[in-house]
Amino acid sequence: MSTTDSTLEEPQAFLPHPSVAAYAEISGMDAYRALVAEAERDYTGFWARLARETLQWKTPFSSILDESRAPFYEWFKDGTLNASYNCLDRHVEAGNGDHVAVIFEADDGTVTHVTYRALLEKVSRFANALRTRGVKKGDRVVIYMPMSIEGIVAMQACARIGATHSVVFGGFSSKSLNERIVNVGAIALVTCDEQMRGGKALPLKNIADEALAMGGCDAVKSVIVYRRTGGKVAWHEGRDLWMHDLTQAEADVCEPEWVGAEHPLFILYTSGSTGVPKGVQHSTGGFLMWAAQTMKWTFDAKRSDVFWCTADIGWITGHSYIAYGPMAIGATQVVFEGVPTWPNAGRFWEMIAKHRVTVFYTAPTAIRSLIKLADSDPKVHPDRFDLSTLRLLGTVGEPINPAAWTWFYEHVGHGHCPVIDTWWQTETGGHMIAPMPGATPLVPGSCTLPLPGIMAAVVDETGRDVPNGQGGILVVKRPWPSMLRNVWGDPDRYTKSYFPEELGGKLYLAGDGAVRDEDTGYFTITGRIDDVLNVSGHRLGTMEIESALVANPLVAEAAVVGRADETTGEVVVAFVVLKGERPTGDVAIRIANELRNWVGKEIGPIAKPKEIRFGENLPKTRSGKIMRRLLRSLAAGEEITQDISTLENPAILDQLG
Ligand code: WT7
Repeated sequence: MSTTDSTLEEPQAFLPHPSVAAYAEISGMDAYRALVAEAERDYTGFWARLARETLQWKTPFSSILDESRAPFYEWFKDGTLNASYNCLDRHVEAGNGDHVAVIFEADDGTVTHVTYRALLEKVSRFANALRTRGVKKGDRVVIYMPMSIEGIVAMQACARIGATHSVVFGGFSSKSLNERIVNVGAIALVTCDEQMRGGKALPLKNIADEALAMGGCDAVKSVIVYRRTGGKVAWHEGRDLWMHDLTQAEADVCEPEWVGAEHPLFILYTSGSTGVPKGVQHSTGGFLMWAAQTMKWTFDAKRSDVFWCTADIGWITGHSYIAYGPMAIGATQVVFEGVPTWPNAGRFWEMIAKHRVTVFYTAPTAIRSLIKLADSDPKVHPDRFDLSTLRLLGTVGEPINPAAWTWFYEHVGHGHCPVIDTWWQTETGGHMIAPMPGATPLVPGSCTLPLPGIMAAVVDETGRDVPNGQGGILVVKRPWPSMLRNVWGDPDRYTKSYFPEELGGKLYLAGDGAVRDEDTGYFTITGRIDDVLNVSGHRLGTMEIESALVANPLVAEAAVVGRADETTGEVVVAFVVLKGERPTGDVAIRIANELRNWVGKEIGPIAKPKEIRFGENLPKTRSGKIMRRLLRSLAAGEEITQDISTLENPAILDQLG
């Protein structure tokens, strides 16, 4: 790797605004360093303190960290608690039952306020209904729901009775849903008749019916349907049940199931470097503690805040910072059903003004697309809206480029809201590297420093530390409470993917590259080092898309790579060899469209290749290995400068370029 370019201009640092620092949980760098030092001095004592302060335990833990089955670490294992109790009951018991938990805004703008007391009643009724249907502690429930109060209720209700939920994003296809239901061994599915987004209805129940008919789902005894639109749905008597019918018949109190801290709260599927998604398994105690603690540290969130995270409950961000974190600290949050560009691209700004949002957490892709739209239509520019209630902005999912950071800082935050760039992953459960708003000087494009207790580092291929300024592999050196516990049903894959022998078997491998600044030690994420793409902040495995393509009867072979994109970060580019002749002209366009839709059906619209190029073959080495680096250069339209002497069939480059 090359040394740092000393001609680069020093990045501008933004110091915490005095008003932010005064209010902050961690006020000033000395306070931050003191916490870092506390964790270094007494690692387990530090985490035990946070777990005791942040959560209410039914039985206190005495075991803090059990490393005897490493890398299957166990935290607080002899303690018992309930996640739903911590998110709901304890606020009601403390006299805050009338505090608004959720401000829900539907796609069409209809607003519903739900207090903590009302939410507890809804969750209790649904939890009772699940119990009546025979769902018990440890059973898995798949939730295939739109952004809704009912989606959150379903998650919290599972937590209440100790069932492990697995939420599948509403944009996934019937095939993806089927694979997840089968892999997780679900006995119940919660879905809705139709999902509304951008004025359009999407038939979730029909897709769920298709998924269940694909086979392997005999264990699913109940399909519970939330009536959102009243649209027509097919009905399987005995199996299908309306959510409102079930909950009406139940009491609004429900004794929580007290579970051990290690009890799996949820399993969430994410893409890895193989064709099969991984069921990332999270614990109850460690996960919830960190969701709550990071709300306080990273967002400085208090009960009085109106927090808005624009993610979907189908992703980890929607688990940690919608379904659990905000409620674990008793804050008010906005939950939004729709999309940022409908009825126009001013929707986010209008909603911030309307609901008096104080903390706004979104994705760089959304910011970049809204910048473009605001530039072309002054009516949807954030400058036209009253955003004065905002005090903090956050981003997640992908690196934020300095230009988008600056625009967000100036036009949305008006120069007084810190922009908190949070690096983390499905597997980490919560924030890992991010500025502390009242302490860390901000540098656009850098997620800055690890949170106290998080031992992040940059190492080489053998697991040795690399000096600052030199790029390498991002790892975490010690287990932390909110880390994943396993890959569901595949412990071997857990060990191999996250604690590889090559790095010594003890370091958590994140799968990202990173570099630390020579002077400040700040981290900058340089992107994935495996075959995983990041499109609009969504993680996609190239192998998954390749498997989907070769499953099409026309396709003989396929290779998928990413290409950098100004708005979405990356786009999917597929190189395809058909079984028949290499198509050209209109035929190529028609088949490319057909294959794009095919991938949409196999995985979901987010995985559709932006571009498909046809060749008679793929560039391979003489030993038959596809030269992916070469494909990445071809996709980017770069001149080929790499060594192609090992390429079996150089003529192919003209067809694919
Ligand atoms: C991957 C994790 C974390 C919740 C949403 C995505 C990338 C995430 C950042 C950031 C640069 C980031 C990484 C990571 N990523 N946040 N602030 N800066 N890259 O969760 O689907 O598990 O994806 O997203 O590549 O490994 P995920």
